[in-house]
Amino acid sequence: MSNEPAPNSRKPLISGNWKMNHNHFEAIQTIQKLAYALNPRDYDHVDVSVHPPFTDLRSVQTVLQADEVPVSLGAQNVHMASHGAFTGEIAPPMLAKLNVEYVIVGHSERRELFGETDEVVNQKAKAVLAADMTPIVCVGETLEQRQAGEAESTVSQQISGSLAGLSGDVVAGLVIAYEPIWAIGTGATATPNDAQLMCAHIRSLVRSRWGDSAADSVRIQYGGSVKGGNAPELMAQPDIDGALVGGASLDADEFARIVNFRLYQA
Ligand code: 13P
Repeated sequence: MSNEPAPNSRKPLISGNWKMNHNHFEAIQTIQKLAYALNPRDYDHVDVSVHPPFTDLRSVQTVLQADEVPVSLGAQNVHMASHGAFTGEIAPPMLAKLNVEYVIVGHSERRELFGETDEVVNQKAKAVLAADMTPIVCVGETLEQRQAGEAESTVSQQISGSLAGLSGDVVAGLVIAYEPIWAIGTGATATPNDAQLMCAHIRSLVRSRWGDSAADSVRIQYGGSVKGGNAPELMAQPDIDGALVGGASLDADEFARIVNFRLYQA
């Protein structure tokens, strides 16, 4: 009998966060190119989601549906209320009606530039769940926090606050994205080992708080300058279950390479 851990049975999720890029014409072009670049078999081992700006969602949904492309539609943000006088905001049921399956909550750009606290992220995650969609809950430390030796405690606090009040069953179905802020859009990827260490820390936190089954099922993505070239090694780490990709997801061929990381693994 081997003492090797059982192979990771979690299906990786590769998500493209387009951020504030691509108008709806460009979005249609990009999703059509991506559909062409991927073969039906490519989806056997990996789930794929794209997160266009709100103004593109209907256009992208129409292409995915008409051409039966097995890419999930995602959003980048949402409001926590189901409706009401919140000028400029988008409610979870509106996204659900467009077949949105995944919603990013608490991206570091939302936390840093728009003042979102763990409490707000927690409310948004619950609102997404209430509308039968899956939140991708983002956490990650700044460079200063890492240099001060506070990376783990920062991420622990974000996990506790952002997932407060959720049951083990619910946490089991979540996606958590570990995105060290210093690696976002900078070209400075965390080393596969650093990324693995933090993702393992997150999983052990989930294990101690929500139990074995939640820890074994929750998917933990890594994000921060993921490209076709570095994805194979990052995705080979036992506690990394996918990637949240920014810049490289704007280019359909590069994103398809990341989705197909298995083909490039040693
Ligand atoms: P980059 O891949 O451009 O570094 O962005 C990462 C990110 O923030 C994805 O949400």
